Order: sequence, then C-alpha cells, then structure tokens
Amino acid sequence: MEKWYRNAAVYQIYPRSFYDSNGDGIGDLAGITEKLPYIKDLGASAIWLSPFYPSPMIDFGYDVCNYNDVDPIFGTIADFDGLVAAAHESDIRVFIDYIPNHTSHLHPWFIESRSSKNNPKRDWYIWKENEGEVPNNWLSVFGGSGWELDPITDCYYFHSFLKEQPDLNWRNPQVQNAMKNVLRFWLDRGVDGFRIDAIYFMYKDPEFRDNPLNPNYQPGIMDPYQTHLHTYSFGLPETLDMLKEFCDVLGEYKDTFMVSEVYAPVPDLIPFFKICSPRIHSPFNMNLISMPWDAVCYREHIEEIEENLTMEDTPNYVLGNHDRSRVATRLGPSRARLLAFLQLTLRGMPFIYYGDEIGMEDVPIKSEDAQDPWEKNVPGMGFGRDPARTPMQWSAKKFAGFSSAKPWLPIAENYVERNVEAESKDASSMLNVYKTLLKARKDLPALHHGAYSSITTDNHALYAFERVAEEEKLIIILNFSDQEQPVHLLGIGEVIATTDGRPAETTTTDLNSLVLQPFEGYLVRLS
Ligand code: NOJ
Repeated sequence: MEKWYRNAAVYQIYPRSFYDSNGDGIGDLAGITEKLPYIKDLGASAIWLSPFYPSPMIDFGYDVCNYNDVDPIFGTIADFDGLVAAAHESDIRVFIDYIPNHTSHLHPWFIESRSSKNNPKRDWYIWKENEGEVPNNWLSVFGGSGWELDPITDCYYFHSFLKEQPDLNWRNPQVQNAMKNVLRFWLDRGVDGFRIDAIYFMYKDPEFRDNPLNPNYQPGIMDPYQTHLHTYSFGLPETLDMLKEFCDVLGEYKDTFMVSEVYAPVPDLIPFFKICSPRIHSPFNMNLISMPWDAVCYREHIEEIEENLTMEDTPNYVLGNHDRSRVATRLGPSRARLLAFLQLTLRGMPFIYYGDEIGMEDVPIKSEDAQDPWEKNVPGMGFGRDPARTPMQWSAKKFAGFSSAKPWLPIAENYVERNVEAESKDASSMLNVYKTLLKARKDLPALHHGAYSSITTDNHALYAFERVAEEEKLIIILNFSDQEQPVHLLGIGEVIATTDGRPAETTTTDLNSLVLQPFEGYLVRLS
C-alpha cells in the first residue's frame, strides 16, 4: 500500500493566527478544528501545527515550559485530542512541532538545573564556569553572544536563540531519554508526525572551540550572526545519529513521518533523506525560497533532487513559513502563482503556509507594534517575522473574520478583496489554482505517484517536465518570463489546469502550437 506521506500536501498552521474561536484576539485549537472543513475542501491531506505548548511566548511558543500540555491561550489537551480526532475523521494527518534544541528558561528542568552546581539536572543544559569573560565566541541567532551569565551560580549557560531559550545538552543520555518520551507522549495521543525545530543546532563541539571568522561577511548588509562560520556550534555529525534514533522511536508506531528544519543546499540535505530506513524522514528543502527567478535554475535544482533520491524517498518543496517573508511579497502575485503551480505538480510533499493559498502578503508592522523578539533584538535590519504571521483573512467582515476582538497582529489592508470567501467565488483566484491542483494530485495517478523527468526545450524562459505513471503521461509547462512564449513541444492532450485557476474545461491543446502568456503554466494530459 502506498504510504500516505509519500505525496501528502501539508498545510502549515500558525495557531495564533489561524482562527480565534473564543474572541481574545489570538487563534486557538478549537478554531483550527472549526476550520478543518476549509482545509479538507482546499485539498490538503495533512496539517502541521506550529507550537501550542505552555510557554511564556517570548519566542511565541518556540520557548516551551512543558512539552506535554497545551498553553491555556490555545485551549486544553482535550481540545487537542478533539482536533486530532476530527482531523482523522476527515482523513487529514497531523504533524506537530517538536523543539529539541532548547526549552524555555521557565521549564522546570532549567529551573532545577540553574538552582545549584550539583543539582541532578545541572548537566541537562550547557554550563561553563565564569572565568572573567564569555567562554568562547559563539553567537546567538537572535543577536549578541550565545552565552548568558546566570547570577544564581555565577556560571554561563549557552543559548543558540534567545537567552530565555537555554540549549539542552544532548550529550546527556537522560536528556535524550526524556526528549524521546516527549515524542512517545504525542504519538500515544495519535499524532502522525513531527516537524523538528532547529535540528542542526542540537550538538556542540565538546571542546567548545572558537568559531572561525566568516571571510565573506559584509557588514551592514549581512546579519551580524554571519560574522562567524558556525563550525563548532552548528551542523555537527552527531545530529544525524540522533535523528536516526528519533526514527527508531517513530518506528515503534505505525505510519508516522518526520520533517526537520534544515536550511542547506542539496548535497547537504541528501544524507538527511537517507538516514532512516524505512524512509520516514525528510529534511525541509528550503532552497526554492531563495532561488533566483530563472527557469534553468529551477529545473537544475529539481533535477539535482530527483537524481539523488529514489521513489522510496519523499522530496519536499517549501515556498514559505512563519520565519520568512511571504512568497507573494517576495516574488509578486503572478510569479507566486506560477511557483505554486510548480510546487503542486512536483513529486513528494508540498508544504503550504497558511494564507499563501489566497496570496496573502507581508503586512508592514510599525516598530512600536513589533512582537517578534528578533526584530526587537536586532531592530531595523528587516529580520522581524511579524509581517508573515498576521491573521488569516477569512472574509470581508471586521478583523477579516479571524476574530471578534482586535487581533494580536494587524490585519492586511487589502483583506476586503483578499480573503477566503471572496476567492472562493472567483473562478480565476489563487485559491482555485490551489484547489484544482490539490484535487488533481489525488485524482491523477501520474501526479499522485508518477515519476518525474525534465523535458528539454531550447527556450530558456520555459521549464517543462513530465510525470508518468501506468498509462498516464502528464506534461507541465511553465513560462518564467513576462513575455508570451511559444512552446513547440510534440504532443496533443487535454488541459487539466492552468495558472488562471479555472477548473478544467475539456479543451484539447496541441503543444506544438501552444503559446503561453507571461508567467502562465499548463498541466496537460497527453492523449
Ligand atoms: C526555528 C523556528 O521556525 C523559529 O520560529 C524559532 O524562532 C527558532 N527555530 C527557535 O526555536
């Protein structure tokens, strides 16, 4: 039997911003349950929930103080169970966020660990004696040194992110066991998989050597974190060994899957795809987020992925997430539409960030309204992630139908036109492109599980490929340019979908005389 995850379309939900069911201006789990029919109708087959655990919310839930519960802001554990049950009832799988690198400074483990040098949990975190200066030059992603002097024992602890997010010591077997039990806790409650946060940060050099300077650093342009190469505090080989152990835990359960947060070029991603047997893990492929707008670059990238993976592996393509500027803002609406067309016609597991399916854009946030700690720590450099985390635009009603109260972040000014209700009625909307293709991914064997191969064209503005399964052959052609482009390919077939979103009319097209409009894409089933 085909495994569900080989071609699952995963919809990422940032719970604070999806739907507020209790009128406090913040989204919640019951709100997600209420909106499952929308996700079903969209055609996604899985959801990934960003963190909902008890947390002081300094990094909006990526600072966990209890891994085995739900923060009251989002509801109760019963709400979670209800959400999982309702999702499964609708054939929607559930991924949750797993945050192994760090806890909140308010997690009972850290409170114990910092309380004295001989506390049994002292070694659960990374401590160094105070010898008059920071232990080494390791930096925090969110700005400044990664070391914080703790007055209680006058020692430093290390934090890859905020000082309120102390890093766990993964060299301690008790930490490993406790954190594996967190996986089991949620697997026992019925989750289908995990998205592993910040996996590449988990292991640090046991000798705590200084990181080398980055010879390519450009001051004022690049993030100050990039002044160094993170040779000794990031990307250590032990990461893969522990990932394999996580897979073993998942293997105790049936039909589960994991994705992990890795920003890396393809050669560095491949070992992450291959580490588990059976193949129940893929690293995120974030490369499309920063790819130059060029048909040849896209084609070569997909070829590199496909050449290195087999049909047993699950490739994935990410266009956006809660940490990155929205795709419609980065590329503009037409290119974003074309890219969605590409993403949804490729093999594997597409990740759809909530709101991207209606073309939501970044919302400018005034500095006094900034919520994101990264923006507050390194202001004015454009690192703030609030613009991509604003409330889902459901309708033209007040607060975009997200809440009855003023939301925690402002709503986009254009929400009256750009919202789910309006786009549902517009046959040529972005939403309908998503719906048509997500349905086609289920209905057409070649899109569902067919092999990929590129089609050579002399026209470098075009990217064409085929997906083939059993008797079915599909051709996908994408025009990356802002000019009309003649296609000149051999074959006649039925047009299943185009980037204009209209549901398939049974029109036949001759690929040799087809002319694509600027940024237009076609999905054709050969006769
Ligand atoms: C990556 C998460 O996606 C991001 O939102 C968070 O701030 C850091 N990891 C730290 O957990």
